[in-house]
Amino acid sequence: MAVELIATGRAVPSRRVSNEDIAKTVDTSDEWIRSHTGIESRYIADDDAAVSDLAVEAARNALKMAVDRAEVGEKSPEELAETLDLIVLGTTTQDYYGCPATSCLVQNRLGAKKAAAMDVTVACSSFIYGLETAAALLSSDRRRRRALVIGAETLSRITDWTDRESCILFGDGAGAVLLEKREGAPAKRGISKDRGLVRTVLGADGSGWENLIIRRGGSRNPWKTGETVAINPHVEMNGRAVYNFAVRVITETIAALMEEESLTIQDIARIIPHQANARIVQAAGKRLGIPEEKFFLNIGKYANTSSASIPIALDELNRSEQLRRGDLVITVGFGAGLTYGGNLIVW
Ligand code: ACO
Repeated sequence: MAVELIATGRAVPSRRVSNEDIAKTVDTSDEWIRSHTGIESRYIADDDAAVSDLAVEAARNALKMAVDRAEVGEKSPEELAETLDLIVLGTTTQDYYGCPATSCLVQNRLGAKKAAAMDVTVACSSFIYGLETAAALLSSDRRRRRALVIGAETLSRITDWTDRESCILFGDGAGAVLLEKREGAPAKRGISKDRGLVRTVLGADGSGWENLIIRRGGSRNPWKTGETVAINPHVEMNGRAVYNFAVRVITETIAALMEEESLTIQDIARIIPHQANARIVQAAGKRLGIPEEKFFLNIGKYANTSSASIPIALDELNRSEQLRRGDLVITVGFGAGLTYGGNLIVW
């Protein structure tokens, strides 16, 4: 029995914001942002768009791909949505604070009437955690067969647009992957595993909880009646500490996934890292002796879309047919918490 990734989708707002646009409002430059992060632009949601709008669009695109590519017997995305058993949505920027879970809003709009729905909120690691969660829930009950895993963010809503160190980093977007539990077909190359999710590394180091944080609005520091504050809840970041953590855990996670399956880098078709900073990925690659071209990077275009960055990348690679059935793929990422993880997938 294998949990296969059978279709992907993505959604990105139409409004593109370049580095030059940002340099009009804070003291920075296109040259600084490119050379320190690899970012050239980001897409920002309109004021009336919420994260569920992006999530629904990405999900519909994944369902449509499954129908168009005849991965499923259903004749339309709507019919396919009705067969879903589970929706797992990774996000840091829910439509509503606390409840309802944004995945429930997505379930309703997709017409996925029989699907259970839950949010996963471990910041940029949410898609990696979500994929493992969904696969485990499909595997644990024979009646569950199909799941959607979505990563969606409107980080622009929790960005301090006056902080030049963090506001240059973030963008909005969503990506989705459709999972189906199947009998299993052997991988074509590398290892003798069935297609689908092979294994996942998950981890956390809560001692770094303060390095990436939204301080206001939770039970530790609630809003008070009548209080006026200068800016909305926003991410505060110790950039250097996060950078060092990221290089270390990316290196360790890739090494662990390969070691556990006795793989060499030649067996791996593509590594899809969380797109936070191109220099983080380059530093981790250097430590492992992995050539740069093994890593897929689209941070230049989208910036850091947190939970959405890996599923957006998967969809770009899948639609452009840069991934072939049987390819071995590693996803790897890190985020607030601090959390980290990676998935080894036979495509
Ligand atoms: N434009 C121009 N100068 C800047 C900017 C900017 N946007 N930002 C910082 N600087 C300046 C600093 O003030 C500093 O100046 P100084 O030397 O006069 O003090 C100088 O540039 C160098 O600053 P550093 O912090 O050393 O720059 P660094 O090369 O480390 O890059 C960065 C900073 C990009 C934030 C990096 O540390 C990083 O990417 N960290 C990881 C961030 C991350 O991945 N966050 C994840 C968030 S995801 C989530 O969970 C929502």
